[in-house]
Formats: sequence, C-alpha cells, structure tokens
Amino acid sequence: MAVSTTLLAILLLPILLTTTTHAADTPFLGFPSPWTSPSNNSDSSWAAAYAQAVAFVANLTLTEKVNLTTGTGWQADRCVGNTGGVPRLGFRGMCLMDGPVGVRYTDHNSVFPAGINVGATFSRRLMRLRGEALGAEFRGKGVDVMLGPVAGPLGRVPQGGRNWEGFSPDPYLAGVAMAETIRGIQSRGVVACAKHYILNEQEHYRGSVDVRIDDRTMHELYLWPFADAVRAGVGSVMCSYNRINGTYACENEWTTNHVLKNELGFPGFVVSDWAAQHTTLGSALGGLDMAMPGDSGPLPYRSWWGGALTEAVLKEEVPQWRLDDMAVRIMAAHFKVRAAADNYTFRPDINFSAWTNQSLGYLHPSSNNSLATVNEFVNVQSNHAALVREIGAKSIVLLKNAASLLPLRSPPSIAVIGSDAQDPPSGNPNACPDRGCPQGIGMGTTAMGYGSGTAEYPYLISPASALRAYAVSHNISFTNPPSSSNSNWDLPAAVDLARNASVAIVFASALAGEGYMTVDGNAGDRNNLSLWENGGALIRAVAGVNRNTVVVLHTPGPVLVKEMEGNPNVSAILWAGYPGQESGNALVDVLFGAVNPRGRSPFTWAETEADYGVGLALMDHVPVGEDPNNERRPTPVQRFEEGVFVDYRWFQTGRGRVVYPFGYGLSYSKFRYADLRVVRREDVPGKYPPAGGMTGPAPTYGVVERGDLTKYTPPAAFERISPYVYPWLNSSEGFVAGGGGGGGGNSSQFPAAATNGSAQPVLLASGAPGGNLGLYEVLYTITASIKNEGEVAGTEIPQLVSPRIARSHADNMSSWGGEDNPWGVLRGFDEVELEPEETKTVTFELTRRDVSNWNTTTQNWEITDREKFVFVGSNVRDIHLNASLPAPVGMKWRIG
Ligand code: NOJ
Repeated sequence: MAVSTTLLAILLLPILLTTTTHAADTPFLGFPSPWTSPSNNSDSSWAAAYAQAVAFVANLTLTEKVNLTTGTGWQADRCVGNTGGVPRLGFRGMCLMDGPVGVRYTDHNSVFPAGINVGATFSRRLMRLRGEALGAEFRGKGVDVMLGPVAGPLGRVPQGGRNWEGFSPDPYLAGVAMAETIRGIQSRGVVACAKHYILNEQEHYRGSVDVRIDDRTMHELYLWPFADAVRAGVGSVMCSYNRINGTYACENEWTTNHVLKNELGFPGFVVSDWAAQHTTLGSALGGLDMAMPGDSGPLPYRSWWGGALTEAVLKEEVPQWRLDDMAVRIMAAHFKVRAAADNYTFRPDINFSAWTNQSLGYLHPSSNNSLATVNEFVNVQSNHAALVREIGAKSIVLLKNAASLLPLRSPPSIAVIGSDAQDPPSGNPNACPDRGCPQGIGMGTTAMGYGSGTAEYPYLISPASALRAYAVSHNISFTNPPSSSNSNWDLPAAVDLARNASVAIVFASALAGEGYMTVDGNAGDRNNLSLWENGGALIRAVAGVNRNTVVVLHTPGPVLVKEMEGNPNVSAILWAGYPGQESGNALVDVLFGAVNPRGRSPFTWAETEADYGVGLALMDHVPVGEDPNNERRPTPVQRFEEGVFVDYRWFQTGRGRVVYPFGYGLSYSKFRYADLRVVRREDVPGKYPPAGGMTGPAPTYGVVERGDLTKYTPPAAFERISPYVYPWLNSSEGFVAGGGGGGGGNSSQFPAAATNGSAQPVLLASGAPGGNLGLYEVLYTITASIKNEGEVAGTEIPQLVSPRIARSHADNMSSWGGEDNPWGVLRGFDEVELEPEETKTVTFELTRRDVSNWNTTTQNWEITDREKFVFVGSNVRDIHLNASLPAPVGMKWRIG
C-alpha cells in the first residue's frame, strides 16, 4: 500500500541518514513531492498568493501548465532563463537573470559589493538596503526572478571559487544576510532565488561529484541559511549541480521533497541550475518545478520536460497533481511578490537583451528570429552609488593598525603601488567577458570575481584614481606607477617609489570564480591561498624600504597573511573584499577616517592552508567509481567528514593556527563591555509541541483528457521556430519520448509512494515556512552595555556566542572530542554606533533553534540537557562577558 510505504520510508529515514557512508545507490524512498497549500504555512501573503495562483492555474490547459515549467532554451529569448508564457491570457513568460552583484549582461545598472562584503558589514540594515536596491534594478529591467542570493557554497573550503557570491561560512550570519536580502529584493516586486541548494561547495567536479553528508551536519550547518531564506518568504530556490548521497540535487527527494518542501514548508518553486536536470521522471517526482534553461535534454524534444513532460503526464507517469503543483508554486511566488508592495502590481516589460549590446537584435537569438529593438538602455542605477560606497567602506576589515598609523592624517606624500590599485590598462573594466581574463589579474583593480555572478560595471573607481583625487585636494604629494599589466613584477620600480614616500600603500589581490572559466590556471576554485601576480613579493619589497607600509587586499576570502602580520614595517592591513563599482572611494573613506572601520571578517584567516583542516577535493584524493546512475563518467565522492567543524568551529578544536579569527576587525575607537544580563522567558518551555496530523490530499485543477492527442499538438497555423522548446507533443499519432520521457528511466523504477497524492503525515519539525514556528520562539533575552572609550565616534559589532560545552575556552580544549559540538557558535550580533564616552545597551534574543541540536533519531530539534553558557565579545575569540544560561522552563541541566 502506498501510504504504508511512505510511513516505512519515514521510519527508515533516520537510519539511512545518520551514517555518512551509506551506499551510493540510496534507494528512491518515495516521498511524494509535497503539494503546496496555504494550510501548512502561516504567512498570509503566501495564502493570498496561493489563492490567486490556484485561480490562474485552474484556467490553464495541460500544455499551458507545462509551458510555465520549462525554459524555452538557451538564448531562445532575451534573458538568461525564460519560461514559456500563457499568450491566451496575456501572461508573458518569466525572465530570470543573474545576480547576485547586479543585473548581469546589461547596461546602466549598478555593481554592488559582493555577498562576502555584505557579510563583513554584520549590518542587517545594509543587507536589507542592498536587497531593496538590487530588487529595484532588476524590476526596472523587467526581470521577474533574480538568481540570488547565495548560501551554497556556504564556504566549507576557503579556496571555493564562488564563496564570494555568498556571505560567510557561518550559517547564522549567512542566514541573517539571506533573509534580509530576500526581503529587500522581494519588497520591490522581484522573486528572489536562494541558490545553490545544496552542498555545491566547490567548483571542481560540480556536475558529477557525489557529496556524502550526515543528517545532523546538513541541518545544523548547510541547511540553516536556507531555512532562514524560506522563513523570509523566498519565492524560489535553485537546486545545484552536484549529487547528494547518491542522487543529483535536482532530483533528490530527500533534500527537495522531504527537507525543503516538507520539513521547511517551502511554498514556492524549485528551479534547476542550468542543465542540472538529468531525467524527466526523476526530476518531476523528486520535486523540481522549473527546468532551466529548458533545452538540456535528449531528442526528440531536446528537453527533459516541455513535450516530454506533457507525454509523461498523459501517460500518467507523472501524476497530474504534480504538474498542477509545479504551476501553482511558480504562480504563487509570482503573485506573492507582485503584491509585496501596492505600487508593484504593474509588471514591467523586459527592456533589454542579455545577448547583445546593440539596440537592434533578435527576440529569439538562438534561432536568429524576429529582429526588433531589444535594448532600450533603461537606466536603473538611481542613487545606488551612495549605498555601494557605504557598504564598500563599512565592509572593509582593518586587520592590523600598528602604532595607529591609520587614519592617515595628511602625510606629506603617498605612493600607491600594485596593479590591483590601477585603472584597467584598456580603460574598460568590462574588457574580459564575465570578468575572467584568461591571463589573470594585472588588468587593473579587482572588485568582483568571475563567472555568472557578475554584472557589467557602469564605471569602476579604482583605488589609484580615488587616492589621486584625494591627494590633489589635500595637498598630498602622490606617486603611482603607470598602469601596465606587469607592474607587480618590476620590484625595483616599486621599491624606488616606496622609498621616497612617507606612506606606501601597496595593493594585492586574488581572483576566484565559476568553474566554466579557467583563469591563470585556476578552474574557478583557487589553486592556493597565495596572493596573485607576485603580490606577496611586492608587499615584502615595499615593506623592506618603508616603515609606513599599508597593505590593501582585494580577495574573495582568506589569503596567507602570517608573514605580513609579523612584519614590523607593515603598519596596517586592510581587507576590502570585492567592493564593486565604488571601490576606490570606499577605501579612501576608511584610510582617511571619514568612516571609522567597522567591518568584521566573515571567515577565519589561518596560518597555512593545511590549518583549515579541509581543502579542495581533487581527483587524486576523492574516491572515484561508485557510480549510482551507471554513467560512463566516474563519480568522484566527497565525504564531508569534518561534520559541523568548518571555519571557526574547526579552529576552536585547537587543531589549526589562526592569524585573525572569524568576526575580527579593528576600529579607530576602543569599546568596553559590561553588565551582561540573561533573562529567561518564563512563559516559553524548553520543549515545543511538534507538528502532527495529516495534510490534505493533493489537489488537481481541471481534467486531463486522454485519447485524442491532437489537443496537445500545436495549432494548425502555428509556425515553430527552431531551436525553441515547446510544451506540445511532436505528433498526435502516439508518444515518441520513450520510457520516462526519453532516457530518464521509467515509472516502474519508482515506488508507488512517489506518485501517491493521498493525505501525508506532517513532519514534527515542520508546520510553517522555515520549519516549526516553535523553533523561532525567543527563550532568552540577553543584554549588555557597550561604551566607546576612544576619541572618535565608532561602531562596535558585539557578537553573541552561545556555547554548549564549557565555561571557558581552555576547558573546551581539554574536553573537546567528548561531545560532538563546537565550543560556541555565533548566535547574535548587532551594530552599535557610539559617540566618544557614549554607552548603549545592546539586546540579543536567543531562539529555541539557536540553542537546539538536530536529533537524527527523533528527526526533530531538541535542546540537550548539557549545561549551556552565553558569551558576548568582539569576536568569537575575544570574549568579554560570560554567563550561564538557566535551563529552559521544564528542563534541568546535567552539570559537567
Ligand atoms: C550556472 C550558475 O551555477 C548559476 O548560479 C547561474 O544562475 C546559472 N548558471 C545561470 O547563469
């Protein structure tokens, strides 16, 4: 019986998921893909959108529904991704665009600081404002879905090519940034897309690697920011390229059906990463709702969906309720964000083409069809430059400031050294497509990474040009070598300049990006954590002759800074990340003190690569050969054996040497912490009522008429263009896609439960978008006071760490290993602006989720009975205050 198979699957799940090493061919257990319904969530905007979506979908024919689910093909329309529309109802297809630093492949847009810089601000306000500005720019171009923000990669491996697109390897910080960004984007009438779901932690083998992960690490680390995204109302989620425990992400019933749609109650749609779909039935039953770009499948349809999905529904291999649910999810997300603000009920037309810079171009470039005005050059920048500059400045992390050299106080002369300071030699910051110059950097300053997470600069203020302008207006003598691509290698010239300046500002960078491009021998992921283009030697040479050397780093994450940290002539080190178009101006603001530095490192800086305890998995150290899908290409297997111990959690175990910890950053002021108070909420018990009961049965809208297939072929007068993906059958004579839609297996491979649309049991941890509402109830309110004891106004970023094990860090060192928890994890932060001598109280709220662990046996979040503490400090290592947490109401701590 179908229902009992499902129950069996749920009972089996903990056993299957608690081991990291279970067999590659994890069976398809048969969780039916949850049908969205307003009854399983609490957000009224989803409920209203769902009602609108149902009304819309109920009017559609089978092929119209399929048209919404399938991309029209690569470059078949003007955006990076385009769905079919419903012309009969005047509904044009959806336009999906990268993201996430700005609208990609267009003009008159802004380039915002990268996600990693936004993480470094630790500012909810700036996260939200950037989201709003991004949303406004995407909307202004007529985009429906912005392909961002990013929480996968989370940043397990410091070399990871796309870490800079996301916010931080800390899931709490990443989760807050995801939620604020999404709220911002969607408030402007654009659907956000949380990507890449999930465990796409490196670029090497991203399309084949099989990531083995245990259930607890999944929940406590990688899933966490996606839960925040769903709770914030994200309309779409992009499934990733990799496999997870044997199955591709875009047909993975555990990650998609069970965890995302059921446990997290995600009401929106799941869209595939580009060509990350591998079957017709597996993806449909595994929970995919939208296939992109739509044409990555086999003949006869050249698509896994489109006509192949229409066939699969007609053959009852994919139940009608599943297709209806796809369409409802897509339309619900659309209606939800359109209603987000009253002003946004109007849907702008697409007014650009991703595929040409000219005003005239093809509406359907892949078929050179329909010449028209495709670019209207609409300027969407508004006044966003000021925000770009503010985030740029407030994300700069001051790592070292010996003898308070900074802020600079009108030095007689400055020398600006390093190709990373310069304007691009060609004058065009967009000279290299997708910012991946094959020869590497040396092409001017680096202010973003490379790959799909890019946008075209409207302009780029280089550090050299901003510093020159400042110097000219402040009577500072300024020297700067002529811009050339090899200046970093001319050490004698650099030394000459540095020797004669009162302050030498030396720039160095590293690049990272998406694996479809190889830059200077780096295939997306960085080959190492060194500075590029001789940067290390350049810094050494400059510091050799100038005691006031200031180092500025433009890097996507950590580089090895131990040597410069210890070099007495390197007086200051600033990490500026990838700051976007206002790079130079933002830097000048901090160097000369208009902005008191307040950025905090969103990752750990270790002494060596080996200190991170985890590195890139390359073919020579990933097991190869376990091949679940019997494909010819070998499957590299990557085991996330370190569990939850990534970044600072790993260093807390004492097994790696840290130069600058997570959360670290200096200010021109000094702050004092006092008065830690913990108030337990007396009305909220430690244990929360689990969700329960059953869902309703899967709804269907309209009736699929079988028999006469002419209904499902194009209207007689319709002229197809080729290549273009349609939802129609190729022939009314019979089905042509073959079993499972053309190579994707057939329905007999799936347990009956996978297609079962009867009522399903509700998971304990579920019940609302983001998971059970009880997880987000506040158990403790914690306050502390912070005083500015410096001479200038400044902003402190207090960080709350809620440990589970020991009162002090030293205790932990001796006890680590006995308990499988990090010593303490970030569970709160704030930005506190203080005038000199001013004191303010900061308040943190600890939710039930914040102090819980995922119990793999009960499949629920639980607060363990181990005594717990709370710490408040300037970063995870520099703790100023600590207190015990009283056991929650109804619980007792086991002491020791
Ligand atoms: C592949 C990338 O992984 C994804 O982030 C992007 O949105 C799509 N390509 C579309 O460009």
